[in-house]
Amino acid sequence: MDMLVKLYDLPDNRSRAARIAELGVRVRRGMAYERAVVTEWVASNFGAGAPGWVSEAGVAFSHVPATCFTATAEGGVIGFCCYDCTCLGFIGPIGVADDWRTRGVGETLLLSALNAMRSAGYGYAIIGHVGSPNFFARAANAVEISGSDPGVYADGLR
Ligand SMILES: CC(C)(COP(=O)(O)OP(=O)(O)OC[C@H]1O[C@@H](n2cnc3c(N)ncnc32)[C@H](O)[C@@H]1OP(=O)(O)O)[C@@H](O)C(=O)NCCC(=O)NCCS
Repeated sequence: MDMLVKLYDLPDNRSRAARIAELGVRVRRGMAYERAVVTEWVASNFGAGAPGWVSEAGVAFSHVPATCFTATAEGGVIGFCCYDCTCLGFIGPIGVADDWRTRGVGETLLLSALNAMRSAGYGYAIIGHVGSPNFFARAANAVEISGSDPGVYADGLR
């Protein structure tokens, strides 16, 4: 199932972003020279359950500027969120390290990437093949796109 987000009506995330900054977390756009570090982190954290995410993150780092936002703490990656990977206008994959979840990192990553899409000229974003619909509904007012399963992911090689 895919979900749709209105980029012209995004929630204000500044207070949550400020709170995670106080925890020492930095959310920013990735740079090309970080591609290996980020894709290896995605592989070791999510590669077993979602091997396609490593390929999608690689695509994000093939763009200039990279269409991947990272969250970092203590000099290492703790989360990532990509867009324009499998399809233009799609956001994801997104993931946060197990021990950093439920502190606002995922929402800050998501809204940073969605705001970047808005600045790039998109009116809407599509979250492809959603695994945590309540997170996206809460964080970005995302709504289900009816009839979108399996969508563009039909008949993919695994
Ligand atoms: C989904 C994910 C990115 C959320 O990251 P996170 O850093 O824990 O999210 P946040 O702390 O920013 O959560 C924001 C809000 O959503 C809620 N939330 C977080 N994960 C949720 C989930 N899976 N379902 C419902 N609500 C969720 C939080 O409780 C929080 O609520 P609040 O505003 O009342 O405090 C993270 O759980 C993850 O990496 N999951 C595994 C990968 C995954 O499923 N990715 C999405 C695939 S489509």
